[in-house]
Amino acid sequence: MDLEQKLRDKTATVGIVGLGYVGLPLAIAFSQAGFKVLGFDIQPKRVDSVNKGQSYIATIASDSLSAVIANNRLEATTAQDRLREVDAICICVPTPLTRTKEPDLSYVTQESEEISRCLQPGQLVILESTTYPGTTREVVLPILERSGLKAGQDFYLAYSPERIDPGNKKYSIRNTPKIVGGIEPQSTKLAELLYRQVAEVVVPVSSPEVAEMTKVFENVFRNVNIALVNELSQLCEKMGISVWEIIDAAASKPFGYMPFYPGPGIGGHCIPLDPYYLASKARDYDFHTRFIELAAEINERMPYYVTSRITEALNANGKSLNDARVLVLGIAYKKDVEDLRESPSLKLIQLLGEKGAQVSYNDPYIAKIQIDTGTLTSVELTDEHLSLADCVVIATDHSHYDYQRIADKASLIFDARGATKKLKNNNIIRL
Ligand SMILES: NC(=O)c1ccc[n+]([C@@H]2O[C@H](COP(=O)([O-])OP(=O)(O)OC[C@H]3O[C@@H](n4cnc5c(N)ncnc54)[C@H](O)[C@@H]3O)[C@@H](O)[C@H]2O)c1
Repeated sequence: MDLEQKLRDKTATVGIVGLGYVGLPLAIAFSQAGFKVLGFDIQPKRVDSVNKGQSYIATIASDSLSAVIANNRLEATTAQDRLREVDAICICVPTPLTRTKEPDLSYVTQESEEISRCLQPGQLVILESTTYPGTTREVVLPILERSGLKAGQDFYLAYSPERIDPGNKKYSIRNTPKIVGGIEPQSTKLAELLYRQVAEVVVPVSSPEVAEMTKVFENVFRNVNIALVNELSQLCEKMGISVWEIIDAAASKPFGYMPFYPGPGIGGHCIPLDPYYLASKARDYDFHTRFIELAAEINERMPYYVTSRITEALNANGKSLNDARVLVLGIAYKKDVEDLRESPSLKLIQLLGEKGAQVSYNDPYIAKIQIDTGTLTSVELTDEHLSLADCVVIATDHSHYDYQRIADKASLIFDARGATKKLKNNNIIRL
């Protein structure tokens, strides 16, 4: 039976490579849609957890995982040889940066080698990892063709960016349109058919390059707009007006405006990294993405700016940052998730520590963190910890926090997220 028919009648086996924030929900979605799914990960602990139906990602309920495991719809493995058993392969491995902020495609190339070794005629391979335009055709395709099979003829290849927003209660895989771009029409057609099984809307585009650029553009768009509002927040502070009130007022305009919020910096595995993927590729074309790099620079300065504002707030209270007890609330890079990759809170803790502050933190999702000077453990948010702190910093605005109680117990609050914008307490300094 050909792949098209197998996709239509859901007899195809779907392989998901990389069972993280992107791969695990995708594996569950295909299983729930009636496919048999084989999940691959290099971490045996993750594979064991999946097979036991235990989720290791806060925004994915163990119930939905255990249900598909119990139905024998999903199985996880570390054995890459089993790539031979699947009909379609979605690659969801990390695409980090090197220490010098260059794209690190090593996970993508290593996995491409594994797939190449196991590649079967008729298989569909789709890269989902965020990356620069050209990766699918220039990096993945040549590795896969080392198998002796020809792309677009013996096997199919496409790019389809993942748009998942962990923790978003409104938009899931099902109701977020999925972009697909194949290296030739049949690859696009098959990828479109595959994703139509889990997403209500699939948007085919003319090439993998268009799909890759679309994804990077979406994330750069966020990065640039966050930088704009981060800059505006600094001007507003000098002018003595509230940036939070301005954003809410501007958001009353029903067209031509979309609210973005300032903060202590940006984090996660996407928004801070993707501009560098594009900037690096642009240099191959003797082109400098000045606007994009400026935005990244403004956002990366925010932890420094917040540190200086905390110093000023303490000064105004007759305290110096040196030796001050600073309690940081929220370590995750955004609210209600346990992901601390690239979190600006980590940079903030480092900067406060370097200035001599005694830093502690609370995060309901993150029990321990590793910093340059050792391990920090999340302290309980008791009245005592709140009142003993010289400054409580709201670095991530988890919904779980009772901000009124925090404001009532703390002597000084620096709110970098606008979480207290409705409170009247006069011990609150806002970004
Ligand atoms: N996290 C997000 O919100 C998000 C959203 C959209 C796109 N993305 C993109 O999706 C990709 C994956 O991100 P993530 O957040 O899911 O990463 P992650 O670190 O949560 O998950 C990646 C998984 O891949 C596994 N892995 C690495 N190499 C492997 C290999 N060769 N074979 C099998 N497994 C392997 C890792 O062990 C890990 O479990 C990245 O390119 C990212 O930019 C992420």
